[in-house]
Amino acid sequence: MHIHNLSKTNSILNQFIAEIRDVSVQKDSMRFRRNIERIGEVLGYELSKNLSFETKTITTPLATIDSEVPKNDVVLCSILRAGVPLHNGLLNYFDQAENAFISAYRHHLDNPESFEIVVEYLACPDLTGKTLLLADPMLATGQSLVATFKALEPFGTPKEIHIVAVIGAEAGVDYLEKKLPSNTNLWIAAVDKTLNSKGYIVPGLGDAGDLAFGEKLQH
Ligand code: URA
Repeated sequence: MHIHNLSKTNSILNQFIAEIRDVSVQKDSMRFRRNIERIGEVLGYELSKNLSFETKTITTPLATIDSEVPKNDVVLCSILRAGVPLHNGLLNYFDQAENAFISAYRHHLDNPESFEIVVEYLACPDLTGKTLLLADPMLATGQSLVATFKALEPFGTPKEIHIVAVIGAEAGVDYLEKKLPSNTNLWIAAVDKTLNSKGYIVPGLGDAGDLAFGEKLQH
């Protein structure tokens, strides 16, 4: 797996990451969603440098010019519900992309520390030969991303796979390295050291879905 950890270079992205982590800013859920969206835009911009380009002749009011434009057929796939603001950020830049949505949630078994990933809903176009961007804001254990990847297999083999995540845990990054094809790219804004016993990233930011959309009842 090719890991592109954007936190290795200081940029304005640090500000957005600091705000989504900060409990005093998190109370403003609109700001939280918008920051995740802005992070999606930055990650999308960075990964666009890895796409394939073709020459397109553009007519301006004064003359013509040959411009290099991306030629990939992009499919954005997000995991509901926490993935929605990140999806919107990517869609702001890849505005011609096709879209896929999948629901994957942690179904807690006997105790809060053990869970299985349940995939319930999946809407996806043909992926054959396309550039798949799989967005999940929190790469904790990596299990939901791998379960999602497997659920997408019947929809065709993409030409390229890019995982887009906001904050990851080292264990989750290692798990993806073991389970996903070696030519997969991971674009991630920060990688934290630890996962707690409930599978939350530490220091992380808490529950990204709740912060974006409000708390839910457990089932
Ligand atoms: N999902 C979240 O929202 N936060 C985590 O820390 C891990 C998974």
